[in-house]
Amino acid sequence: MIENRKDEHIKIAASNDVEEGNSLFDEVQLVHNALPEIDFDDVNPSVSIFGKRLSFPFIIGALTGGTETAERINGTLARAAEEFGIGMYVGSQRVAIVRPETARSFRVVKDNAPSALKIANLGAPQVSRLSERELIDWVNEAVDMINADALAIHLNPAQEVFQPEGEPWFRGVLSKLRLIRRITNRPLIVKEVGNGISMEVAKMLAEVPVDAIDVAGSGGTSFIVIESIRRRDTGESGVFRNWGIPTLLSICETSSVYDGLVFASGGVRNGLDGAKAIAVGADAFSMSRPMLLSALKGYDTVKDTISRIMWEFKVAMFLTGSRTINDLKKAPIVASLPVLLWLIQRGVKCKLTMTMYDTWRPIASILLSKLMSND
Ligand SMILES: Cc1cc2nc3c(=O)[nH]c(=O)nc-3n(C[C@H](O)[C@H](O)[C@H](O)COP(=O)(O)O)c2cc1C
Repeated sequence: MIENRKDEHIKIAASNDVEEGNSLFDEVQLVHNALPEIDFDDVNPSVSIFGKRLSFPFIIGALTGGTETAERINGTLARAAEEFGIGMYVGSQRVAIVRPETARSFRVVKDNAPSALKIANLGAPQVSRLSERELIDWVNEAVDMINADALAIHLNPAQEVFQPEGEPWFRGVLSKLRLIRRITNRPLIVKEVGNGISMEVAKMLAEVPVDAIDVAGSGGTSFIVIESIRRRDTGESGVFRNWGIPTLLSICETSSVYDGLVFASGGVRNGLDGAKAIAVGADAFSMSRPMLLSALKGYDTVKDTISRIMWEFKVAMFLTGSRTINDLKKAPIVASLPVLLWLIQRGVKCKLTMTMYDTWRPIASILLSKLMSND
């Protein structure tokens, strides 16, 4: 049953070390500004996303729904989203569409967060098998269930292939995304679930077109690990535990070829990671497992967690002299060699490589003209 799987995901993610790889946020450094020329109180981290004002660019990640435990978690997180003025995804709503008696576990989100930015969620493999008529029904039901401001479709080929009852069906997903684009007036987000989006995929999504890409890169929760625990795998998934594009690199790849909004997630673990994500090209950031762990401890812990993330984010803004999010996007940031090597090999033209290209381009053209003139 789908509901059992939802509870198993929660239980396994909460009681095991299911985080793998490295999001690579430690491999970049924001440059300290000793003369910010603003007071700490001048820092204004608020942003507008899909017409909703957020107190800072943070969205509670997609987690769950479909069971009593999930209902408690969703209710707790939604209350916090409303109180803090931040965004919130819900987990995949397929369970509530095929078993309507479980829909209340999602509806608590609209009841507890009437004015927050709310994001509905469906899975690409399931959507790929629906007829046009069914797809219209699913999309409308998912959006109406939580009065969503946007709809996310998650891409999870790695999860499906390791899931015991997985559905690794990805043929025809692009055409279904184009159809969804036509049938809903809500902004369309495409997200991964912890293995990242490459620039090739970002280009395909740009053509759909989608309104936002949430990279959900590797370095945080790994569904390859979670599903391997569920299938009592004794080792065959081991070589793939690290599979995926580290989140920092996925942000650079995606934002280098895509003009829509980029959300950073996957192993984002504090407000400083979030500030780095924005400085390299993201528009907002999101965390899932940390919010799950907090929600299981109760509302006060969720509030403490969000307050801490917000404080860290504001401190990073202040210490880079960033009064607004636009200032933070321009803040200087420096990357280590492994990050640069990936970006150069992949030909990624982003903020981290621009100065390098700008430095080398004139030198290369001088060398080239010298070579030509020797002929
Ligand atoms: C228990 C659990 C359930 C999840 N369920 C969903 C889901 O239903 N839909 C979805 O898009 N992502 C789901 N995710 C993936 C997260 O949204 C996120 O992409 C991933 O966990 C990486 O972020 P993190 O490192 O901050 O946890 C789930 C994550 C966890 C931990």
